[in-house]
Amino acid sequence: MFIKKKLGVNIDHVATLRQARGTTYPEPLQAAYIAQNAGAHNLTIHPREDQRHIQKRDVYLIREACSLPLNMEMALYDDIINVALDLCPEEVCIVPEKREELTTEGGLDIFASQDKLDDFVIKAQSRNIKVSLFINHDDSSIKLASELGVDIVELHTGGFADAITDQDQERIFEELKHASHYAHSLGLQVNAGHGLHYENTAMIASIPEIHTLNIGHAIISRAVFVGLDRAVRDMLHLIS
Ligand code: PXP
Repeated sequence: MFIKKKLGVNIDHVATLRQARGTTYPEPLQAAYIAQNAGAHNLTIHPREDQRHIQKRDVYLIREACSLPLNMEMALYDDIINVALDLCPEEVCIVPEKREELTTEGGLDIFASQDKLDDFVIKAQSRNIKVSLFINHDDSSIKLASELGVDIVELHTGGFADAITDQDQERIFEELKHASHYAHSLGLQVNAGHGLHYENTAMIASIPEIHTLNIGHAIISRAVFVGLDRAVRDMLHLIS
């Protein structure tokens, strides 16, 4: 069994560039169209509570004007929950969020947020939204995710991406392989993301059970030099 990989393109950092100068460009919706034409399977956006990149206006616009399946990353803030339940993206990925972090630093502590998660999972699934949890790759988190009845776990690949020695990277890779196998055996769809780039993604894509790779920063960075269409196509080539 080897699942053919899908690519979710995270376009948050198109909005980062816009917000850096408070301009009206570059327009994330335009990036969504380019990613779609290049063959991306999903679009990912993360409206953070501090609105540092994606704005609520972007979420509504992209949902209305782009037909790619939408994966909305979000923390469990009431305001953002309301947006998700209103727009009903195909998928919602629950992530931890801290104002002071540069990017999502770790997986969700589902043990600590169980009650709020329970409530959200019921509401979202009743609206046909698939719920994903962005978690670290330990068995206990995977088991609890399964018990909560979510559809998907997204395994945090940040530790793999940041490993300094080959030995460390190989060890984390083996752990991710085990975690993917275990999650899949529990009936969960397994996604992966964070810190993936053009040199390390092929290794993660070799894990049979992984379904979707959600990648942002590396694709938008490469787009600066080769254009977004080419950057998406290059990543698609790598994961196929
Ligand atoms: N998946 C999740 C859940 C994330 O929070 C992020 C970062 O927003 C990504 C994937 C993409 O990470 P990167 O920008 O490092 O590719």
